[in-house]
Amino acid sequence: MASNNIIIPFFLISLTIFQSNHLVFCHQESGEWHCDEDSETKLTADFRPGIVTVDGHADDWEDINGFDFSLLPALDPDQEHEYKAGKMTIKALHDGRDVYFMLKVDGDYVYSDGNDNKCPSVALMFQVGDSATYHNMGGCKESPGTCNNKTCRGYEVDIMHFSVGSAIPGRIYGANPVDNRDGNGGDRYGHLLDMYAWNPHCRNLDGISPAGNDSTAQNNWKGAWWHSSFGVHSGYIQEDSPYGSSGQKGTYYFEFSRPLRTMDQLQQDIQFTVGQPSKFAAAFWYPVDGNPWHGSGHYSINCNWVALDVSSASLTPVKLASGNSWNASGAFALLLSIISLSVSIFVGYLVSRKSGVRFTPMDSL
Ligand SMILES: *[C@@H]1O[C@H](CO)[C@@H](O)[C@H](O)[C@H]1NC(C)=O
Ligand SMILES: *[C@@H]1O[C@H](CO)[C@@H](O)[C@H](O)[C@H]1NC(C)=O
Repeated sequence: MASNNIIIPFFLISLTIFQSNHLVFCHQESGEWHCDEDSETKLTADFRPGIVTVDGHADDWEDINGFDFSLLPALDPDQEHEYKAGKMTIKALHDGRDVYFMLKVDGDYVYSDGNDNKCPSVALMFQVGDSATYHNMGGCKESPGTCNNKTCRGYEVDIMHFSVGSAIPGRIYGANPVDNRDGNGGDRYGHLLDMYAWNPHCRNLDGISPAGNDSTAQNNWKGAWWHSSFGVHSGYIQEDSPYGSSGQKGTYYFEFSRPLRTMDQLQQDIQFTVGQPSKFAAAFWYPVDGNPWHGSGHYSINCNWVALDVSSASLTPVKLASGNSWNASGAFALLLSIISLSVSIFVGYLVSRKSGVRFTPMDSL
């Protein structure tokens, strides 16, 4: 299946060599891996139902607080090699059913139809197993021949990867009936994949595993992308590719949603719980200077997990766009409630006066 070619190394460390049948990661030998993690960072997904629509547009996220993350190369998190065009802003919220993410990052417009590596790409990664580390995508020590749901139990990470090369901006990709009927996390239409991993070399679509496939798996993500330089708002079709002119300054938007909980029975999906923290990471690929990116050449928002709080209903008042709109809508709401109160008193009066009002039981209808 085509989507298998798209599964690319993620949070992969720079070099791996085989030694007596075990994968030995270079950082263990040279001690080169270095992480000045920002442990203060925490993203909160507040309960804000009915605010956003997954369409790739960020206007509806304006009142939601986000977090600006520096993008450093995942393999060598060195300030000097920071993604130059800007930080990645990430916002999250939930509506009690689904959790939503908005990823915003500045970048000149590049798009190459059908060539994922010449288009920007993003991924989210979540801790599933208690032992799963950010570094090495779960960090299970087994090699591809030996990693499975027994030997790597507890090291599972959940990954959502969106390669936009075959996705029309503003359209929804990810979960679709065709791939979900096949029982795996693939997406033949737009390469918004639902995957899991134990380490960078043991990474599969949900439902696909070395021990055998499980047809109960699903792609549970939905997502869309957009670039601020686009002029059309009503809807693109494939024929409009490349949708915008190359090199235009602007911002990329990637918007996602997923149910808080899924029907996963295999430790391949993170299960969010309202009121409880989760751990996540985000990655960004960009064809710098027009050069196609390769799987391990990505930026990351941190060199460790970032806390994500799915918070319970917030007591803080909902902030509205402007004082004026509050006044207007507040006054209107007050007027409406006064009218409805008056109407109900009047109806009550009528009913009590006409004591002969007949009550028709439903059964006789
Ligand atoms: C491992 O995965 C296989 C195939 O999906 C499944 O049949 C088996 O029950 C799983 N074992 C464990 C320990 O999860
Ligand atoms: C599992 O699914 C993958 C992808 O569809 C396929 O290549 C592989 O042969 C399947 N494995 C088994 C044991 O059926």
